[in-house]
Amino acid sequence: MSEECVLRCVLMLCCALLSANASNWLYLAKLSSVGSIRDEETCERLRGLIQRQVQICKRSVEVMDAVRRGAQLAIDECQFQFRNRRWNCSTLETMPVFGKIVTQSTREAAFVYAISAASVAFAVTRACSSGELEKCGCDHNVHGVSPEGFQWSGCSDNIAYGVAFSQSFVDVRERSKGQSSNRALMNLHNNEAGRKAILSHMRVECKCHGVSGSCEVKTCWKAMPPFRKVGNAIKEKFDGATEVEQRKTGTTKVLMPRNSQFKPHTDEDLVYLEPSPDFCDHDPKMPGMFGTVGRQCNRTSKAIDGCELMCCGRGFQTQEVEVVDRCSCKFHWCCYVKCKQCRKMVEMHTCR
Ligand SMILES: *[C@@H]1O[C@H](CO)[C@@H](O)[C@H](O)[C@H]1NC(C)=O
Ligand SMILES: *[C@@H]1O[C@H](CO)[C@@H](O)[C@H](O)[C@H]1NC(C)=O
Repeated sequence: MSEECVLRCVLMLCCALLSANASNWLYLAKLSSVGSIRDEETCERLRGLIQRQVQICKRSVEVMDAVRRGAQLAIDECQFQFRNRRWNCSTLETMPVFGKIVTQSTREAAFVYAISAASVAFAVTRACSSGELEKCGCDHNVHGVSPEGFQWSGCSDNIAYGVAFSQSFVDVRERSKGQSSNRALMNLHNNEAGRKAILSHMRVECKCHGVSGSCEVKTCWKAMPPFRKVGNAIKEKFDGATEVEQRKTGTTKVLMPRNSQFKPHTDEDLVYLEPSPDFCDHDPKMPGMFGTVGRQCNRTSKAIDGCELMCCGRGFQTQEVEVVDRCSCKFHWCCYVKCKQCRKMVEMHTCR
C-alpha cells in the first residue's frame, strides 16, 4: 500500500469512529411525519442508526415510530430544562443533533444520555398503553385487590416493556464495547439513571365508582408521571452530578467519585468524567457551540440566567420592546371571560 493510501485509511477509520456517535439515533427526530418508518426496508435507510439498531428496527418496525417520538421528546425536554443556561440544547441539522457537546464526557452529555434513554422508555410505554403495538399492551401483572382495599383495574402502564426496549435499543453501542472504556461506563450509568427517574416517579391513579360519585368502589392503575416530572428529576440530578474516574476493583472497572471525600453516587445520580467548557464563545470547530452573544438575559438575577453570568462579563444591550398582553379581564354571566388587549413596553436585555 502506498503511503498516501495508508494515510487515507487511517483518516477514514477516524471519521467512522467520530461519526458513529452513540446518540446519533436522536436524528430520528428529524424525520417528518408519523408513520414514516413503515417497513423493514425503511430501517436500512434511516440515518443515525448503527447496524445493530437497524436489526432491532427490522425486528420491531411497529415500535419505531414511538422511538422517533421519544427522540423528539428528549430534544424538547432538554431545550425546556436548559432554556436559561448558556448551553441551551440547540440542535443542528447534522449528526450528532446536539453537536460535539455529546461526544465529550461532560455533565451536559450526561444529561443528554439520561433524558434520551428515559424518553424512549416513556414513549414506547405510552405506545403500549394506547394499544398502538401488537407486541405489548397494558401491564397485566398488576391485578387483584390491593392491601388498601381497592381494585387494580384499568390499563397499568407497561413500564417494564418500555425500559427493556430502551435498554436494548439505546444501550446497544456501549454494551457492544464490552464495557471497557470509561466513556461507555459513563453512558451506560447515565442511561440507566434516566430510566430510573421514570421508575421512581410511577404513581397510582384511581377512579371512584358508586352512587352519585360516592367512592364505594375504587379502581386503580399504575401510571407514569408526566414527562415534565421526569425532566425535572433528571435536571436536579444534573445540578448535583458527580465527577468520577475509573478505578479497578479486582478485574472489574468501576466509576468512583474523583474526590474521595464525596459519598459514592447512587444508581439514580448522574456522573461525568470531565469538566464542562464555559460555553461563552461561538467555536466554529465545535458544532453546537453557539456562544451566548445575542442571548436574552435577566438584569436582576444573580443566577446563570442573569446578565452577568449569561454574558460572561461582556455586558449587554437593552431594548424597549412592545408586548401584547391580556388584561382587565371580566367574567360575564354565564360563562365566559372577556379580556382587553393591553400593549406595554418592557425592557429586553441581550448579551453583547
Ligand atoms: C439557543 O441560543 C441560541 C443563541 O446562542 C439561539 O440562536 C437559539 O435559538 C437558542 N435555542 C433554543 C432552543 O432556545
Ligand atoms: C429575573 O430575575 C428575578 C430574580 O431572580 C425574578 O424575580 C424575575 O422574575 C426574573 N424576570 C424574568 C423576566 O424572568
